[in-house]
Amino acid sequence: MLIKKPSDIKPSEITDQKHYKDRRKFIQAGLGLTGAAMVPGLWLPPAVQAAREKLAGVQKSQYSTKEKTTDYEDVTTYNNFYEFGTDKSDPAKYAHTLKTSPWTLTIEGEVAKPGKFHLEDIIKQSVLEERIYRFRCVEAWSMVIPWVGISLADIIKRFEPTSRAKFVEFTTLYDPKQMPGQKRRVLSWPYVEALRIDEAMNPLAIMAVGLYGEVLPNQSGAPMRLIVPWKYGFKNIKSIVKIRFTEKMPKTTWAAAGPREYGFYANVNPLVNHPRWSQARERVIGSGSIFTRRKKTIIYNGYGEQVAGLYSGMNLRKYF
Ligand code: MTE
Repeated sequence: MLIKKPSDIKPSEITDQKHYKDRRKFIQAGLGLTGAAMVPGLWLPPAVQAAREKLAGVQKSQYSTKEKTTDYEDVTTYNNFYEFGTDKSDPAKYAHTLKTSPWTLTIEGEVAKPGKFHLEDIIKQSVLEERIYRFRCVEAWSMVIPWVGISLADIIKRFEPTSRAKFVEFTTLYDPKQMPGQKRRVLSWPYVEALRIDEAMNPLAIMAVGLYGEVLPNQSGAPMRLIVPWKYGFKNIKSIVKIRFTEKMPKTTWAAAGPREYGFYANVNPLVNHPRWSQARERVIGSGSIFTRRKKTIIYNGYGEQVAGLYSGMNLRKYF
């Protein structure tokens, strides 16, 4: 990420979770919010409130972890979505400018059935599942998030990839009017990510359309974003408008921005450090201050049983 090196960060810039929450309560009180709005955790910025709509017919999944989930407030106010700014709090403040309906998904490349599809139709034809997954950011923090999603393999099969389809590329919306962060050249826009097709077909990979049983808030990547829980967070591309099937490995945004720092595979691996920091441990968001509760990171973010076979025989230091 384009984050400052630890040595560049002044202690005064670090806000631990407790102070951050206390400050929010202080702001609430200052705004004179009462009743429901005063219940801790219920006061949320406008972008979060706007999207709160329950999703019907959500099934439980065998792939869910039983670990304690991160609070809704933390999940939806501590985000990386550079299209709305590079600060963790920017997406919740500014993503309300994104118009998520109607939404068209374009399918291109090595498939028998390319075309433009309404997201609503895709959702109607799909099974919605709650998948409670661990989420590990390359910046060494983590959360546990109850996504609502659709199996990516189920979506992909509908378009009938050809035998030449070796990779699946995903592209975020490009529209600087709706996504003002795209006016700044912090990354090369639009944001692009990709998977090998066998990774994309793994049962753990989903297209998330919700979290906590509700429609995905804009700052979390509405209306549809990728979730591949064994990989670092940056693979989990948000607000997807295009899926392209290719024979050659696509150029992806972070791997192009910093090839030594962000690999194509981006599998969570405590043995392969980022050149500027260790990946051995992670800060669990929402559990005390930044100095407490650093837990050990597990290879493939703990999903080795389901995904290690995808990488057998590969040198994970070279293909990081
Ligand atoms: N997708 C887009 N389009 N733009 C982004 O800036 N950030 C990535 C990923 N997907 C990003 C994105 C990074 S670095 C992370 S860690 C996750 O989204 C963060 O997801 P979250 O905000 O839901 O926690």
